Amino acid sequence: MNITVIGQGAIGLLWYHRLTENSKNHVSLVCSSRITSVPKEIKFTNINNITSSKALISANNQILAHAELILCCVKSYHVAEAIMSLKKRISSNAIIIFCHNGMVNFKQLPNLPQTCYTLLTTHGSKVIQPFHVQHTGLGHNDLGLITGTAQQEKQAKMVATLATALPSLTLSHHIKEKQWLKLAINCVINPLTAINDVENGQLLQQKYHKIIDKLLTEIISVAKYEGMQFSLDELKAQVLSVATMTGKNCSSMRSDILKKRKTEIDYINGYITNTAKSLHIKVPENEKLTLQIKALELANCQH
Ligand code: PAF
Repeated sequence: MNITVIGQGAIGLLWYHRLTENSKNHVSLVCSSRITSVPKEIKFTNINNITSSKALISANNQILAHAELILCCVKSYHVAEAIMSLKKRISSNAIIIFCHNGMVNFKQLPNLPQTCYTLLTTHGSKVIQPFHVQHTGLGHNDLGLITGTAQQEKQAKMVATLATALPSLTLSHHIKEKQWLKLAINCVINPLTAINDVENGQLLQQKYHKIIDKLLTEIISVAKYEGMQFSLDELKAQVLSVATMTGKNCSSMRSDILKKRKTEIDYINGYITNTAKSLHIKVPENEKLTLQIKALELANCQH
């Protein structure tokens, strides 16, 4: 398959590396315009700690025009910009897959003629140095249609290609529910670990249970308006199970704050806060955490 990966972050380079393992795939990369010098090679450290290098093929306009699959692996706040820059350069027959944390409101983005999917991953990877990523944890991918119509043959080819490159993968017909589940997990783990400057596993302590319950109760009330039914006990069990499994990890938001980068708060607790506002529901705890993270971002900018 002709595949273009957008984004040189941890997930983008993980897919780039794994997809190039299959010689039937022609894989290229689009880096952010903020990158001033793109190297000729990328480095990849696999799950067994073995490091290898491979050529980095940058996507030019000709490659982009022939891409059958576009994997958009940019941060949620760069999705709109990535779409705008690609829109005129890709075929309307291409499939676009969005892979990011948090919830992007696709209704607010320009209409795309392409069939679009979202991919939720629990694989762990981190950037060790620019253009060198490490696969830190095996996980699972959930893929689901978000806009357009699925064409069975094309969809089957795409699923087989992705599942071979980075197993395991499920094509989900309940992707919206899975997106909300991931959102709830992110709404708890990301801001609480960032504000308290702790590893994910620390959230299992009794002192965090009250705030976790409050956050989840608010999220459940907003999700209900989107047709999602969650029980507090089940949702909390899922959140605590992810905190246990990723116990020693530094969450993405904590690591953004520590590295003085912009966070995805507007697409996580900010998404809950804004949706709640439009529904005239009160979500004080989610709002409070959103403001606290924004204050930390601001303090980082001023130093
Ligand atoms: O954003 C993250 O760090 C991850 O999605 C998660 C699940 C919170 C674990 O660290």
